Order: sequence, then C-alpha cells, then structure tokens
Amino acid sequence: MWPGQLKMLNAKLESLEYGFFQSPLTQIFDPLLEQKQLELWIKRDDLIHPVISGNKWRKLKYILDHALTQGAECIVSMGGAYSNHLHALAFAGQQLNLKTIGYIRGERPKKFSPTLTDLELWGMELRFISRTDFRELRQYKRYDSLPGLQKAQYWLPEGGATELALKGVADIIDEIELDYDVLCAPCGTGTTLAGLISAKQGRVKILGFSALKGGGFLNQDVNSLLNRQIANWQISLDYHFGGFAKSNNELLLFMQQFLTRHAITLDPVYTGKMIYGLFDLIQKDTFKPRQRIIAIHTGGLQGRRA
Ligand SMILES: Cc1ncc(COP(=O)(O)O)c(C=O)c1O
Repeated sequence: MWPGQLKMLNAKLESLEYGFFQSPLTQIFDPLLEQKQLELWIKRDDLIHPVISGNKWRKLKYILDHALTQGAECIVSMGGAYSNHLHALAFAGQQLNLKTIGYIRGERPKKFSPTLTDLELWGMELRFISRTDFRELRQYKRYDSLPGLQKAQYWLPEGGATELALKGVADIIDEIELDYDVLCAPCGTGTTLAGLISAKQGRVKILGFSALKGGGFLNQDVNSLLNRQIANWQISLDYHFGGFAKSNNELLLFMQQFLTRHAITLDPVYTGKMIYGLFDLIQKDTFKPRQRIIAIHTGGLQGRRA
C-alpha cells in the first residue's frame, strides 16, 4: 500500500461514516408496561444505515480503521449462510475497495440465500468449509493469528468479536442521554453485550438474551472479552426458541403484534427473542416498579428475507 492510499482509504472510511446518524430512542407504550409501572425505550440502531445496520457498524467501525492502518488490503472472516456480520463486512469492503473473503459454514448450496447472493454481488470471495473446519477457525482471535494468512490480509473472528468491537459498541452508551436502570441486548457471540458492560462498568444492570440454545458458554466468552471481572450483568438463556435461527408461531405472532402496535420490525433470530423475553420477564415481575429499561435494536433485518 503506498502512503497516499492509506489516506485515501481513511477518507473513504470517514465518508462511509457520514451515511450514519445517531439513532433515535423510541418509547414503547403498552398496557403491560403501564400496569407494571415500567418504562421501556428502544434504541433504534436498526435505523442507522440501510445495509450496515444495528450492531454491525458499531462493531466494524474501529476494526476497519485498525485494518487500514495495518495496511490491510483484504479482510478475511467467517459466518453462516445468513450472517449479518458477513453481509455488513462485504458491503463495507466493497465501499472501501477492500477485498473480502468469507469462510462459510457448510456445503455450497445449490440455491443461494439472499445473504449469499449479496455477498457475491459485493465481491466477497466465498469459501465453503465443513462444520468441523469452521469450529477450528473459532480458536483464532487476533487479526494476524490465522495460519496461512497472506501479506496485507487481516483476520476478523466470527461476529467481529474483538476488543475493538467493544469500543465501537461503547459509542451507543454515549448517545443515550436518559438515565436508566436496565440495558438489554441480544447475544450471539456476546461481543455487543461485552461492549455495553465494559462501557457501563456495573453502573446499571445489563441483561443479555441468548439467541442460542445452551448459551451458558457465553458467560465465559463475555468474561474473556472483558478481560476483567465486572459485576451487574446476566445472560438469560430461556428465550432461544429451540436454538439459533429457530422460531415458532408464538414468536412470529408476537413479532407481528409488536409491529402492528409499535411500528417496529423485529427479526426472529435476535431482537424478536430479546423483546419477547423482556416482555415475559416484565410479566413475571422481574423488574421493580418505576424502573426505566432500554433495549438495543441490533438490526439484522436483512436475515428475514430468507
Ligand atoms: C442483528 C444482530 N443482533 C445481535 C447479534 C449478536 O451480537 P453479538 O455477536 O455481538 O453477541 C448479532 C450477531 O452478531 C446480530 O446480527
């Protein structure tokens, strides 16, 4: 990379950022909330960009910046056939003239999902690998740690789970001007939750909702991302609806009703499960009257196309 190129890429990164704006905080009015004397607000990160929405920009922003300063010309990452993370990365790569490579779990399907179609359209090189090889890749955490990585290639672990992602997620906190008691986010890798915990340092209760069945390991993963003990957070494991990307009519009906009542679209993989879980916990008197709860809408609506 010649010196002027880095400057140019940084300018492009900045211009990409101009497409984003501070997401609104929307109050939810609902008879249950009134009955339990609770306030619920949703931080609408789903609205921050037409493609790189939700937690994706938050997680990628400082990573892309770091990759560029390392002289990266190609970002290599991993995800499933519906991955929101790869979707955002491929688009960002295309915008920044960075090559992208995605290791995809499982065999190359005969018919591509809308997500895979977009990835190809944006120039991501797709490498389909077995589930065992995919699991193997999870052990590589540092940007330069993937064996066989070539010069100017930058490794990004699944879901963008790095310390720099935590820093980007912490920017959400700076945008919230209200005082609040509880902050909620859905969990896949736990990176978003770890970013919120690290920004709040135990000052409010942080509640994660696992999108995966048997997500107990997330506690350990969040702790290792945090790199130190921080109190006052918890991950609810009860609202996975059978497992990652699984759903049932009850969840879909809840999401449909939520859209009708509040004009907010949720996705069935992450945010639908979180909001369902939150309403269930509210119903079960988990929160004290007069508490104010904020839930982060982490986007992911592209995945609904499947
Ligand atoms: C829409 C959406 N919400 C939440 C998450 C979970 O985020 P994390 O992997 O940081 O726990 C993801 C996955 O990255 C996602 O795509």
